Amino acid sequence: METIIILDFGSQYTQLIARKIREQNVYCEIHPYNKIPVLTENVKGVVFSGSPYSCNAADAPVPNMEGIKGTLPLLAVCYGAQYLAKWGGGRVQQSASREYGRANLTTIDSSNPLMKGISSGSQVWMSHGDTIEQLPEGYRVICSTESVKNAGYQIEGEQTYAIQFHPEVHHSLDGTTLLHNFLVDICGCHQEWTPQNFIETTVHDLRAKLGNDKVVLGLSGGVDSTVAAVLISRAIGDQLHCIFVDNGLLRKNEFESVLASYRDMGLNVKGVDAKERFYSVLAGVTDPEKKRKAIGKTFIDVFDAEAKLITDARWLGQGTIYPDVIESSSVKGPSQTIKSHHNVGGLPDYMKLQLVEPLRLLFKDEVRRIGRQLGIKEELIGRHPFPGPGLAIRILGDVTPEKVHILQEVDHIFIQGLRDAGLYDKVWQAGAILLPIQSVGVMGDERTYERVVALRAVESVDGMTADWCHLPYDFMARISNEIINHVRGVNRVCYDISSKPPATIEWE
Ligand code: XMP
Repeated sequence: METIIILDFGSQYTQLIARKIREQNVYCEIHPYNKIPVLTENVKGVVFSGSPYSCNAADAPVPNMEGIKGTLPLLAVCYGAQYLAKWGGGRVQQSASREYGRANLTTIDSSNPLMKGISSGSQVWMSHGDTIEQLPEGYRVICSTESVKNAGYQIEGEQTYAIQFHPEVHHSLDGTTLLHNFLVDICGCHQEWTPQNFIETTVHDLRAKLGNDKVVLGLSGGVDSTVAAVLISRAIGDQLHCIFVDNGLLRKNEFESVLASYRDMGLNVKGVDAKERFYSVLAGVTDPEKKRKAIGKTFIDVFDAEAKLITDARWLGQGTIYPDVIESSSVKGPSQTIKSHHNVGGLPDYMKLQLVEPLRLLFKDEVRRIGRQLGIKEELIGRHPFPGPGLAIRILGDVTPEKVHILQEVDHIFIQGLRDAGLYDKVWQAGAILLPIQSVGVMGDERTYERVVALRAVESVDGMTADWCHLPYDFMARISNEIINHVRGVNRVCYDISSKPPATIEWE
């Protein structure tokens, strides 16, 4: 597969560069600037990312450019552009004023291959504290903005290009054209990284790797595990043994309906009813982290016992995706922002299974594209994220089967309501929370003293930050009425209007 290598210098936008390249059906990989892989003949070009560092700092990242600069096509973005200018003997210094946000390219060398089709005035997105005051000899300016003369340059006699702005962000309006020029015209890529191509190669490779071996895989109802399972099953059929555990903390009817969908897809799946076991370990537990641990451990015990029933299993299938892979070998080391509780599922060593992770090169949006291409129903592909510990972390305080039942009913009315009103796909994640308090109400002639629920719906890109959704008032009024009229035990509905940060998406 033709490959572009992105060397990461720690920019917040590195993954975005990769996604923008892949959107043009060109395969790319991100590697830390100090762990450059072997540059095989599949590598058609290299991109240097931005960085939070100044290239003048004593500890600034310094890449080994052997076999790259002057040999392969190179596109250096932001820090990359400054680094190359300084390396060649140019002058980079702190800008008089820091340059963030929108700017326009006032001068463009439209004969330059990188700038083809980009018209004068084109809006670009700047984000830098340093600026390239003077270019070294042999570096030719290819675009400027009003305040940044050296906004882009090419090194003469080389396929080395550099730009001060970020072509990958949405606000650089011709960013896609610029990347296309680099990928197709300069690197000569054939844009063959398509879902169909990925599926064919992956199924072929899985067949070769797994042969006649048995694979065990835990399905969660989420997109990643589903797509991973369908790919593996395309390769080895019923030698893939899927396990789907009902922990009693799923949405209303979810276990039955998702299990039925899995079977419709032809997956060899065993549904395991472990509800009572989960309820019994959760009895009386109120601390959110203790709930998570209890659920994680019980899941492992149940999964382990089931997996042992499948004799001679050699492999464990998992839906690991690319952001998890990059995270574990990033320039900055594993991110501080990942909460320990997000990795509830880890399996014990003694299972001695080898891992097979067919999605480890894909971003989430690519997993969805592959899923659609595999014919998986939109209902499964487009569903909101749902936490592993399920409704347990949406029931504040201890968890009982009765509370789960109430919350399932409330959640169902809300989620079905979003679907019916055509709002479901506009929301990134939604759910209901059962609060540990009761409030006074009046129904008919009677005074009531019943439970309070909160509804939460957020907009987000990756769950790291989020804002509450401005759902229409008449929709909220309808849902609130329906909940109070139909769910026994609830007499008050609130809507959560907190953003993340400072709040989180879940309440526990
Ligand atoms: P927070 O509450 O941290 O949630 O803003 C961010 C995203 O992570 C999900 N989440 C979890 N997922 N196990 C999971 O598998 C967990 O323990 C867990 N806690 C939160 C949450 O639903 C949201 O999508």
